[in-house]
Amino acid sequence: MHHNYVGKLVKINLFDNMQINMKKNKVFNLIKPSINEIAKYVPGESKISGAKNVIKLSSNESPFNIPKKIYKIAGKLIEESNLYPDGDSASLKLSISKKFKINRNQIICGNGSDDILSLITQAFGRENSEVICSEYGFIYYPIISKIAGARVVIAESKNLSVSCENILKKISKKTKIIFIANPNNPTGSIIFRNELKNFLGRVPNNIIVVIDGAYSEFVTDKSYSDGIDLINNYENVIVTRTFSKIFALAGLRLGWAYSSKQIIEILEKVRGPFNVNLFAQRVGSLILEEKNFLKKSVAHNHLWQKKLTKFINLLGLDAKITYANFVLIKIDKKRYNKSVILKLLLKNKILIRDLSSYGLGEFIRVSVGSSKQMNKFLQVLKGIMNNNAVKKNK
Ligand SMILES: Cc1ncc(COP(=O)(O)O)c(C=O)c1O
Repeated sequence: MHHNYVGKLVKINLFDNMQINMKKNKVFNLIKPSINEIAKYVPGESKISGAKNVIKLSSNESPFNIPKKIYKIAGKLIEESNLYPDGDSASLKLSISKKFKINRNQIICGNGSDDILSLITQAFGRENSEVICSEYGFIYYPIISKIAGARVVIAESKNLSVSCENILKKISKKTKIIFIANPNNPTGSIIFRNELKNFLGRVPNNIIVVIDGAYSEFVTDKSYSDGIDLINNYENVIVTRTFSKIFALAGLRLGWAYSSKQIIEILEKVRGPFNVNLFAQRVGSLILEEKNFLKKSVAHNHLWQKKLTKFINLLGLDAKITYANFVLIKIDKKRYNKSVILKLLLKNKILIRDLSSYGLGEFIRVSVGSSKQMNKFLQVLKGIMNNNAVKKNK
């Protein structure tokens, strides 16, 4: 009797397992095949367990806190949190329209610019369509394209920069969207205005071109265009922007896009009903008025773009020219052991971005932090590069 009982139990367990497996397979069969191809987005590391005073240079955030006078206003907002925020983000749109001198009916706001990028693929991507992304580009574009069911076509980059020529070559009858980050993450390169205009003129106007300007504010070169001045000439272009970088609001999640009225109307239909929270809307408006904060952040970044590149190159590494708030560094695998360098940085509580998952096995990316963080980083890196354990031909 007892034996039978145990036997029965075992049987039930086996059956349960089978059912679970069947269910799992069923779920996999239910979803769009392209979703099965997605590798989950892994953000830059943010913590070392148990460690304090970690220097986080892995996600291109601002090293600055927003001005203190905004804290009080933001804190008060908690009293309104029983009510939904304004679904249209009307007041924020007005602030953006004033700051960037654009029409407020041509703006959409989102829960970070990644929300808006995803609205774009939901609206314009579909099964049997293609989305073109640049090699060594932002890893979220392929993810959202596949979620929409589209096939991702990769255009080869040229000297670690986005190649407009190679993108044009990849255009087919199935192309619906082209993603370009300008400046590009993780390489820090830019496309200059003339090249961008030439490119837009050659893309058929039934293809959406997204110009992702997450790092636009950091560019001081006069031959650069963030694309905003081109919107009224190209009805198929969408410029996306974020408050996560120069405006130091990565934790609040706020982004926006600017495009033709028709495209914005479409995206407004696709977005969530209250996609931007109360805090993001109000604080976003307030930070746009902080001209000195913006100025200080641009100047700080400009200084460290140059300093970082120079010092890193003096240490025998190869830091690429950057237009954004991070620097791409090549660690020659013939000369140095990258994994030992990464380990030693971690030991010193410094987090940077290993770019192996971007297909850049010999590279790392380091964000511009505060001056204190940068000095510490350079001092630690100097020590590491003098350590024989990192050298291959000792
Ligand atoms: C090129 C690019 N676009 C968009 C984003 C997303 O920014 P957010 O969703 O915080 O606005 C990032 C973030 O790192 C980025 O590098």
